[in-house]
Amino acid sequence: MNNSFVLRGGIAFSESENSIVTYYRGYLVCVDGICKGAFTELPDEYKSLQLYDYGERLIIPGMTDLHVHAPQYTFRGIGMDEELLEWLNTYTFPEEAKYADLDYALKAYEYFAEDLRRCFTTRAVVFGTLHNEATIKLMDLLEDTGVITYVGKVNMDRNGGEHLQEKDAKASIEATLQWLNAIQGKYKNTMPILTPRFIPSCSDELMKELGRLSAERDLRIQSHLSENLSEIAWVNELVPESTCYANAYEMFDTMGTPERPTIMAHCVHSDEREMAILKKHGAYIAHCADSNMNLTSGIAPIKKFLDAGINVGLGTDVAAGSSMNMLKTMLITLQASKMYYRLVDSNVKPLTFEEVFYMATVGGGKYFGKVGSFKEGYEFDAVVIDDSKMYSMRDMSIRERIERMCYNDADAIIKDKFVRGKKVYS
Ligand code: GUN
Ligand code: FE
Repeated sequence: MNNSFVLRGGIAFSESENSIVTYYRGYLVCVDGICKGAFTELPDEYKSLQLYDYGERLIIPGMTDLHVHAPQYTFRGIGMDEELLEWLNTYTFPEEAKYADLDYALKAYEYFAEDLRRCFTTRAVVFGTLHNEATIKLMDLLEDTGVITYVGKVNMDRNGGEHLQEKDAKASIEATLQWLNAIQGKYKNTMPILTPRFIPSCSDELMKELGRLSAERDLRIQSHLSENLSEIAWVNELVPESTCYANAYEMFDTMGTPERPTIMAHCVHSDEREMAILKKHGAYIAHCADSNMNLTSGIAPIKKFLDAGINVGLGTDVAAGSSMNMLKTMLITLQASKMYYRLVDSNVKPLTFEEVFYMATVGGGKYFGKVGSFKEGYEFDAVVIDDSKMYSMRDMSIRERIERMCYNDADAIIKDKFVRGKKVYS
């Protein structure tokens, strides 16, 4: 199969935040890895291309997982009765420390990479650990999946305990430069991203150096923001001169710019002040609803963020989130927003299915450019799904079928997955 072809099936994609367009037995054209649009009738100019007819199957854009921790994948679903800081110290840091052992890392990262290849995700932004060798192995494996990713070697020079901490800011920056050197020019699909874990893990000096490095080398940054109330109180103590957690990142020049946007995972407790900072810098919020439920972090007011024009995508945040399945993340996003409306603030309306589908595809995809849609000019990332095991007593519209697939992910079987027009899973 070359990079130019036509797919036929039940097509659905977001036209805007509030609308999903569908085509029953429509045509989807890919030329050189770029989408030429979806059509009811195939235009003459594309009739010479190879046609793959998927019949009654669904074809949707690939999804973007804006926040996932690769080294946490193998212990997902365990230790979920703790809140963030206890969970990190009890389960997460001891597990990540094991990635000093390259054999251990290789085995675990093979599981992660293979499952990433098999899920709805075609783009992902990934945390590694602080270990260079293990992170390079992870990048090698991800490159081979065909999924397009940003991957970060984690920076942490405080509060990681004896086994998961770099000596000081200088050592952490030196390791980062070595990592960047080692991977320079090595990959097509895999890009580096600077990854200060969060303010409690990084000294002021380290944060400032990472801010400088980001601007100097035009490297993006990912981190965590306002996830948990104890974490926020701790940041206020650690950086007393900041006006809020987001301002602490801003002080260290790590909030990025619209051209070099920072991803901030969570923002569960971000108020109007933090929203203004995120908006000003063109940052992306990675909303991780599954994680926020599991660690009792709270419910992020995503509808408010969308209405304020802030960039929002979805993240699975494995292993605080217990699955890499973006359909499950979409479902919990919907359910959480409904409970926010009912229990927290009735002025904030629940998210619609259209809005959540948009965030999972275009909202996060935008971080990678023209990604997440079948409009003309978008990179051709697509997932073909067989939902025939979800029996129904009547004909269902394409819109109904994708909503049902989200609420009942178990029976949505991925048949084929394409990234930039290349089949990466079948
Ligand atoms: N904050 C700092 N590190 C982490 C992590 O690994 N997971 C989550 N959910 N939050 C964090
Ligand atoms: Fe996280």
